[in-house]
Amino acid sequence: MINENYAPLFESYTIGKGIQLKNRIVMAPMTNWSSHPDGTVTDAEVKYYQRRSNGVGMVITACTNVTRNGKGFHGEFAADRDEMIPSLRRVASAIKENGAKAILQIFHGGRQAPPELVDGDVVSASAVPLEGAGKPVPRALTETEIESIIRDFGETTRRAIEAGYDGVELHGANGYLIQQFFSPHSNRRNDRWGGTLEKRLTFPLALVDEVKRVVAEYAKESFLVGYRFSPEEAETPGITMADTLALIDTLAEKDLDYLHVSLQDFRSTPRRGVEDTRSRLEIIQERVGDRVPVIGVGSIYSANDALEALETGVPLIALGRELIIDPEWVQKVEQGRESEIVTKINKNHQHELEIPDPLWQAIINSPGWFPGIE
Ligand SMILES: Cc1cc2nc3c(=O)[nH]c(=O)nc-3n(C[C@H](O)[C@H](O)[C@H](O)COP(=O)(O)O)c2cc1C
Repeated sequence: MINENYAPLFESYTIGKGIQLKNRIVMAPMTNWSSHPDGTVTDAEVKYYQRRSNGVGMVITACTNVTRNGKGFHGEFAADRDEMIPSLRRVASAIKENGAKAILQIFHGGRQAPPELVDGDVVSASAVPLEGAGKPVPRALTETEIESIIRDFGETTRRAIEAGYDGVELHGANGYLIQQFFSPHSNRRNDRWGGTLEKRLTFPLALVDEVKRVVAEYAKESFLVGYRFSPEEAETPGITMADTLALIDTLAEKDLDYLHVSLQDFRSTPRRGVEDTRSRLEIIQERVGDRVPVIGVGSIYSANDALEALETGVPLIALGRELIIDPEWVQKVEQGRESEIVTKINKNHQHELEIPDPLWQAIINSPGWFPGIE
């Protein structure tokens, strides 16, 4: 029996035009480096998703590239051509088998693409490299190329519909191409794609419009469109909380189905841009109000963490690392066994946890990233 304190986590929630989520818990998007070099998914990857889709209401997949030169990671699964639809469908089916909704996170790596994956042609809004990361100077995209990438986001959305997903999430966070256009650090353009805050919004908003156009044209049923953003950048100039509040005000008018903030810790507070000592998540939720649902995320490990995150007022919360560490997290809370939740990765349990080798290697070789790996 569930401990009644946690019942709010298990209230169903209707999102978009009538999509019913069985609870408030979402699996956060997580890259796993485990696909074949041609971009098709591996059996290990499908099993990893299947295992983690039993309890949650919705799963957001790892990011997938919409163009060939948008590939941001080795072993990333691809969605840049129709041949990939069967591979994409395997992931969607694995997620949906037990009642979770499946969202495909669509992205372009921009200046963060490893050169060897994109024939050395690393592109971005402007020729500004990532600071201090030893990354190459990217080539600024031409207007024609920008327009073509916008259509590619639309094409990938059509593939997601054909592959059986319940929605797509535009990955406008974590420093990839969409964020590179919104950021005053990486976007130094002086044409209609940059120059002022308003112009830096042109690319993200054009993507939203194109994706929504494709959904209206191809989706027979309700199909969700979400948008993920990172609220602040460390660089100067860089995205501030004030920029982000402007971004979300604009996005909130776009009839999106949800906004998803990217945070390492849901309790983190702003760096600059607002005189406010509350958490970023509370500030964002207050600003958005009831215009569009917000997904909160970041360092939610225990059932109490989850409750505390939900109490900020966001209707949905996402768990990333914790669902890798304990794939049965949701079932344990639902059955009143929250004391059995594991919150540190067990170094001997890779196979039991169905974690593909490349993801496992990334975890154990990055001290301080996952609890249990110091
Ligand atoms: C292994 C791993 C891969 C990730 N890959 C992505 C990704 O593809 N897209 C994305 O938006 N965020 C990605 N993230 C960030 C997570 O979605 C999440 O925001 C972050 O891990 C904080 O949540 P957590 O504390 O619950 O893990 C990744 C995180 C991890 C741990």
